[in-house]
Amino acid sequence: MSSASGYHKPVLLNEVLQYLIVDRNGRYCDCTLGGGGHLRAIALLTGPQAVLIGIDRDPDAIEWNRNSTYSTNSKVVFSQNVFSNFDIVLREHGIDGVDGILLDLGVSSFQIDNVKRGFTYMKESELDMRMNRGDQLSATDWVSNASSDELASVLENYGEIRNPVRMAKAIKNCAFPVRTSSDLKNCLASEYGHSLKPDILAKIFQALRIAVNDELNELKRFLGKVHGSLRENGRLAIISYHSLEDRIVKDFIRDAEQKCICPKEQPYCTCKKVVQFKRITKKAIRPTEEEIKQNPRSRSARLRIAQKVHG
Ligand SMILES: C[S@@+](CC[C@H](N)C(=O)[O-])C[C@H]1O[C@@H](n2cnc3c(N)ncnc32)[C@H](O)[C@@H]1O
Repeated sequence: MSSASGYHKPVLLNEVLQYLIVDRNGRYCDCTLGGGGHLRAIALLTGPQAVLIGIDRDPDAIEWNRNSTYSTNSKVVFSQNVFSNFDIVLREHGIDGVDGILLDLGVSSFQIDNVKRGFTYMKESELDMRMNRGDQLSATDWVSNASSDELASVLENYGEIRNPVRMAKAIKNCAFPVRTSSDLKNCLASEYGHSLKPDILAKIFQALRIAVNDELNELKRFLGKVHGSLRENGRLAIISYHSLEDRIVKDFIRDAEQKCICPKEQPYCTCKKVVQFKRITKKAIRPTEEEIKQNPRSRSARLRIAQKVHG
């Protein structure tokens, strides 16, 4: 077996360890296990009473971690599931609260680099893009089921594509079925010529991937539950890689920090809002230039940390 970093090189690793681990015998849940780079490093730091839970929706990630070595005295368990079900997974293992939860969003290098998974426009592949190949709809199915309006909305909202209606029509009215990355590129070429820049193709692929895996709703469902599953002073660490995700995380922490959400002109508070989190670092943490040099895929990463302040 190749090394864990052959599967995926963990991003902002030291920063995650520094801010997430509040108790070396605590319980930690890595909800986006991938190659286990973060969880394996957490396992090196934690003691015999610690419990570590690794969740991933991709069965390949779970299999990889089950077959790899964790040097630790802590108890480590893995579960294949979406992270919006992390509370169910914890309950299944008899865990009523954790001291730290990590989300390292997006896809792993293993998924991107594996041509069969269809995540990249740079190689010829089936348009699959499912993080869990057991899920019902691949990107090909999603595109063929979507109406032109739905596709345009996804291209606009998840890919920030200008004139998404024109692009959606070009894809939906394509003269041949769009089953592979080349089909999609050829189809777009028949509308735009061969002038589409790689960054636009990357945005189109990002938009389809987000839709196929319902990524932003997954994140919102997760955030809606996370306070209830953290122990007092427990920490939440989230690494995001694009502004759509980061905005959701940032707004969540800002709202969770607020004492009152009554209209400003109201003389006294009636909302009875409870402060749930406080941010631990004022701004998002970014990778150093050195890390970006060593691992270019880290360049867009932003890490936000919050701590539970109310029971
Ligand atoms: C960037 S990788 C994580 C890499 C990991 N931190 C490491 O060091 O190896 C993201 C992982 O999250 C998983 N993932 C993404 N969305 C998920 C979701 N909603 N539920 C569970 N896993 C998810 C992906 O399948 C992928 O394996």
